[in-house]
Amino acid sequence: MTRVLVLYYSSYGHVRALAEAEAEGARSVPGTHVDLRRVPETVPEAIRRKAGFIADETPVASPADLEAYDAILFGTPTLFGMMAGQMKSFLDQAGGLWARNALVGKVAAVFASTGSQHGGHEATLLSTQIPLLHFGMLIAGMPYSFAGQTTAEEIVGGAPYGAGTIAGADGARAPTETDLAGARFQGAHVARIAARLAAADEAYEAA
Ligand SMILES: Cc1cc2nc3c(=O)[nH]c(=O)nc-3n(C[C@H](O)[C@H](O)[C@H](O)COP(=O)(O)O)c2cc1C
Repeated sequence: MTRVLVLYYSSYGHVRALAEAEAEGARSVPGTHVDLRRVPETVPEAIRRKAGFIADETPVASPADLEAYDAILFGTPTLFGMMAGQMKSFLDQAGGLWARNALVGKVAAVFASTGSQHGGHEATLLSTQIPLLHFGMLIAGMPYSFAGQTTAEEIVGGAPYGAGTIAGADGARAPTETDLAGARFQGAHVARIAARLAAADEAYEAA
């Protein structure tokens, strides 16, 4: 089995919806085991309640969990033009894995939700990839073979850098069917790449 982790942070549910679609896409690839996890919340409960954050029952991951996977999809909202602090804090606790080269050669991909179309969507996708490259991970995007990303008939999230959605200034826009299709596509894309790499490793070890 190829092991894929979909790991996300979400305050209002948009990234969680994308994460579920990523997991569905990855599960559609035969021989893939998929786990859906979130990173721990860092915002105090009183502020969470006041700001109307969703209650999220998805199990929380710890940085040590990352080592067990062949591929990891990272999902985050855009906060001030970049990944959420919750996700950055999680990655900053993975120094031990970095020191042991424990994530080198694993597949990584990023997906994001952003309030406005030009409020940092692509910047978030790209800049979130930076620490993953420091870990030595191999970055997969959302290739143009997912043709939905090229439409100009509707507002779509995502880019060649990763799947995504545009939540609207007040967060009222739910991910569209095109956005969810992009996330499913990316999940399957990553699972297939991970399976190919695992098969190549097995062949190498057997030789
Ligand atoms: C503190 C804060 C900062 C934000 N910064 C941006 C921003 O820089 N650009 C933008 O377009 N949207 C911004 N947003 C809107 C979020 O991107 C939006 O709420 C998010 O995509 C929703 O994802 P979620 O439902 O998974 O939390 C911000 C929201 C918050 C709460």
